[in-house]
Amino acid sequence: MSSKQLVTNVSSLKGTIQVPGDKSISHRAVMFGSIAKGKTTVTGFLPGEDCLSTINCFRKMGVRITQTGEYVEIESDGINGLKEPKDILDVGNSGTTTRLMLGILATRPFHSVLIGDESIAKRPMGRVTNPLRQMGAVIDGRENGMYTPLSIRGGDTVGIQYHSPVASAQVKSAILLAGLGSKGVTTVTEPALSRDHTERMLEAFGAAVIRDGLSVSIEGGQTLTATEIKVPGDISSAAFFLAAGAIVPNSRIILKNVGMNPTRTGIVTVLQKMGAELEITNERIVNGEPVADLTISTSNLTATEISGDIIPALIDEIPIIALLATQADGQTVIRNAEELKVKETNRIDTVVTELKKMGAMIEATDDGMIIHGKSPLHGAEVNSYGDHRIGMMLAIAALLSKSDTILQDADAIAVSYPNFFDHLTELVKED
Ligand code: S3P
Repeated sequence: MSSKQLVTNVSSLKGTIQVPGDKSISHRAVMFGSIAKGKTTVTGFLPGEDCLSTINCFRKMGVRITQTGEYVEIESDGINGLKEPKDILDVGNSGTTTRLMLGILATRPFHSVLIGDESIAKRPMGRVTNPLRQMGAVIDGRENGMYTPLSIRGGDTVGIQYHSPVASAQVKSAILLAGLGSKGVTTVTEPALSRDHTERMLEAFGAAVIRDGLSVSIEGGQTLTATEIKVPGDISSAAFFLAAGAIVPNSRIILKNVGMNPTRTGIVTVLQKMGAELEITNERIVNGEPVADLTISTSNLTATEISGDIIPALIDEIPIIALLATQADGQTVIRNAEELKVKETNRIDTVVTELKKMGAMIEATDDGMIIHGKSPLHGAEVNSYGDHRIGMMLAIAALLSKSDTILQDADAIAVSYPNFFDHLTELVKED
């Protein structure tokens, strides 16, 4: 389905918004609630399309889930209560649903089939299916189980020690979830620290997880117990309005209740390094996750270099960082970000191609991009290519452009931020 959205120049953005719930945490709340004994309640849930795909998949395995907006109740008899699905499990556009659910299905003594959209069909699944096969799961699929559709016959799995070649929370989480349902201990070691929501939430559900530097271990056979989860706002969604507040003239935006897990705050570090007027207030811990309010004002930004271990902490924010860099003084270089090529789109290509259409001076490299700053942007006909984060980045770019922009495939934004344009309109109105 394709949809067009007109986005025009604005003179200022002002006001307070509460960004929607964290996507990574919302997925995990539903998945862990579905394998925990009892009734789990979730508040602040993200009712975006990706997380709704997760709910639908677990309903097909017999879990009783009710969802009304941001409130979800999950009733489960525990991991052994999951039933063989009579139908295929449709993951839609969601990589997190696909990979984490593979970890759960790998240990279940039944057959299941996972299928997703065109974008999911291009995303590498061998990074998860190979270690799960080493644990004993029988997995087949397109190109010998490297791509969806995938078929899984699980059960009788044993723990492994796995060195992941990529810093990926999806890979780490899939193996830890498989470890939970396997005999013995499972350890995952990654090359740099990826987001640790799985580790934190497993503890909230009563499981013991042992962390040692870049390694995490879990003992199989532990049972999860239902709990109450409060999902903080998604820093990856906040990032779009943090950038907008910094680069649209005469702006001041307050973002309430933003998740500040240190494995996710690379965008805050980069904004600070670029000289942004950013205030962090009301810092607190909710459900084992740090949370704060953020205030951003129009800023004079300077270029920066981004590479190395910070990349996993801002991987989803690189499209919007690229836009920030077009407005900063100097040349920004982003390196070691080859993982961008296997996201919802090849984000090196889509960011560079679409921002160039708007007049940005930006070049793709093998593992990132080089952006020349202080380039005035102009309106254009641009495309999200079905990638929510590319769509939101282009909508923010359009606010700076003197002429109008038409954003094709704007519907994709509903994957993670269904009320994005409502929030934008609120900020434009309040003056
Ligand atoms: C996610 C992990 C990241 C991130 C994605 C969500 C998660 O992917 O890009 O949006 O919830 O675990 P990778 O694990 O592939 O890096």
